[in-house]
Amino acid sequence: MTDWNRDTVPPAEVPLVGDGVTQGITRAGDTVRRPVRPFTMTVQAFLAHLHAAGFPHAPIPLGIDEQGREVLSFVPGDVPREPLPPGTAGEEVLVELARLIRGLHDAAQGWVPPHDAVWGGIPGAQVTSSTSDGEPLVVGHRDYCPGNVVFREGLPAALIDFDLAKPTSKVDDLANALYYWAPLLHPHDRAPAYVDLDIPRRVGIFADAYGMTAGQRRALVPAATRMVGRFHANMRAAAEVDPAFRRMWDDGVKDRLPRAEAWIRRHGPAITTYLTGTL
Ligand SMILES: Nc1ncnc2c1ncn2[C@@H]1O[C@H](COP(=O)(O)OP(=O)(O)O)[C@@H](O)[C@H]1O
Ligand SMILES: [Mg+2]
Repeated sequence: MTDWNRDTVPPAEVPLVGDGVTQGITRAGDTVRRPVRPFTMTVQAFLAHLHAAGFPHAPIPLGIDEQGREVLSFVPGDVPREPLPPGTAGEEVLVELARLIRGLHDAAQGWVPPHDAVWGGIPGAQVTSSTSDGEPLVVGHRDYCPGNVVFREGLPAALIDFDLAKPTSKVDDLANALYYWAPLLHPHDRAPAYVDLDIPRRVGIFADAYGMTAGQRRALVPAATRMVGRFHANMRAAAEVDPAFRRMWDDGVKDRLPRAEAWIRRHGPAITTYLTGTL
């Protein structure tokens, strides 16, 4: 493009490819365009609430464009891909992520979703609800995979892709983040920089930075164990109905999830001991 038409031609759209779940995402200038799904307007209402409640670390919802696509602000920064690069394995990353999620939960607290709210989910999933632990549910992000965390200067700075947001127990939402970032995975399935890390210690650092209560600390490992079981059942079901999930299943999820279940059964007690200080 030459300079003479710079002011009259709309910015060229650049495809954004993440984990390959959502097709047709583009960046146009300072905005992102995404296909509208049944839950889009509920997510936009939630994002608007977060900003109004003082949590700016998420895309700004900007409605629907002339082509009927969702418009969000583009969040500047770097989004890591799997396998997680070595620079993300530091404990300060866990601290910042935990603080971000605490800010999200505090801002989400008390938000009453619209009466006609529609929530997203993994295609074909059978078991989607989190188990109530007696605490009030909040709308959480529920998908803290690497591709949904924007880094700036080496630290988590914002969350994107709220497609799986819905009411959840806070502990379940934290378990989701720890699954990816502690991580709660068998060493065989971790990125190289994460293989030898002290997972109970990392979970403890995350818990301190979030400010987890004694009850949340006791509930974490049972919640994470149930969550990995749900992941396994849901990914198996999704692989039957959706080609992107079939690819992920065949490319390793089918082995990674049972290994994660076995790993957490074996090492969960050490995490609980560390978290609750009951040596
Ligand atoms: N609002 C945004 N700001 C910055 N980057 C974004 C934004 N939305 C999406 N992206 C980029 O596009 C990728 C895929 O988008 P995402 O919304 O996560 O879709 P998917 O459902 O495929 O995971 C993200 O990993 C990120 O790199
Ligand atoms: Mg994503």
